[in-house]
Amino acid sequence: MKNNIIKIWLALLFSAGMVACADSGENPIVEDPEEIPEPSLENIKLKAKFGIGSAVTNSELNGQYANTLSTHFSQITGENEMKMAHIWKGENNYDWVAADGMVNFAATNNMDVHGHALLWYNSFPNWFRNANYDSATFETKIKTYIETVVGRYKGKISSWDVANEIFNDNGTLRRDGCPVFKTFNDPIAFYGRCFEYARAADPDAKLFYNDYNVVLASGKRGAMRQMVNRFRENGFPIDGLGDQFHYMVSTNRTTIKNGLTDLASTGLLIHMSELDIRINVNKDDNFVYLPSEQAKHAEAYKDFVTFFESIPQEQKFAITTWGVSDKRTWLTSWWHPKEYPLLFDENFQKKKTYEGFLEGLQ
Ligand code: G3I
Repeated sequence: MKNNIIKIWLALLFSAGMVACADSGENPIVEDPEEIPEPSLENIKLKAKFGIGSAVTNSELNGQYANTLSTHFSQITGENEMKMAHIWKGENNYDWVAADGMVNFAATNNMDVHGHALLWYNSFPNWFRNANYDSATFETKIKTYIETVVGRYKGKISSWDVANEIFNDNGTLRRDGCPVFKTFNDPIAFYGRCFEYARAADPDAKLFYNDYNVVLASGKRGAMRQMVNRFRENGFPIDGLGDQFHYMVSTNRTTIKNGLTDLASTGLLIHMSELDIRINVNKDDNFVYLPSEQAKHAEAYKDFVTFFESIPQEQKFAITTWGVSDKRTWLTSWWHPKEYPLLFDENFQKKKTYEGFLEGLQ
């Protein structure tokens, strides 16, 4: 906050100096306008008192995409680059190219990296799945994987989703396609040990459990709470919980607010970890993103951010949007081609949603 106030003053002093020089007829030395910090009240990264993240694609980290990221975001997450199948090509074959690229980009631009995700049922590589290891061998190999990945980025990746989407909305464990469920009699204990392996590999990294529909589905929230309690009883480390927040403009606000309050009552850090808000809720082929729709959309962003701001300050970890601009979002293939869920348009111009986000910040 203090930094933000200093930045505003510097910006004001700088512009006052420019006017004085111009009035006196001297030629002012014009600095690159890109380097003048925007007053914090107009910039989400500068205004927020918590992390502002975006999912990124390593191959796009240049030009306008990179400028937009470094100007408006303080943290990045690989949309796919740090998933197991992307890194772990064979038992002793790790592909670090994309993950390293992101970590270097973040270091150059003074940004944090949130690692996503060490364990996700959807991203076990086929060679691993097909091996059908017994539980002891399975765990030994996963332990090595976690130690290798978290260890490589020790001090460079400040937080990790250790496990992602292990529960169904009703609170039961996910079975379909989940090799952990298939292999372990007590999957939760296995996950607890994985948090422990991650902690040992980088004691300073914050460790998260991440899932979707968390604030909407009380069954899933209950299962997460039970898991957290069990971790606490057994001494397994966990620092935070993420709700992906892939919601819609029509998602019930009271449910979100109450669910978020309930989630925060765990006392853990909270991450709105993959935020995007669908506007074309009926998958209308003739949908037009009219100003009236944009205003409704901005209102939704404002509400969601306001809800996040209502949890205790020390628990606000970050809000991460799942992409930078509407030019590339998973929703145009998974939901509908006419979808515009993010803060920047296809030309990287701020949208009304950006203003809504900004207004929601305290
Ligand atoms: O890179 C290949 C490309 O070479 C190939 O031609 C093309 C053909 O399908 O596929 C490309 O890979 C795709 C990849 O995204 C990169 O675009 C995969 O098929 C596709 O499955 C993958 O989807 C990702 C999905 O997770 C599955 O990993 C989405 O981008 C990503 O946004 C999505 O993210 C997940 C979070 O990790 C967890 N929470 C839900 C969220 C949305 O599903």
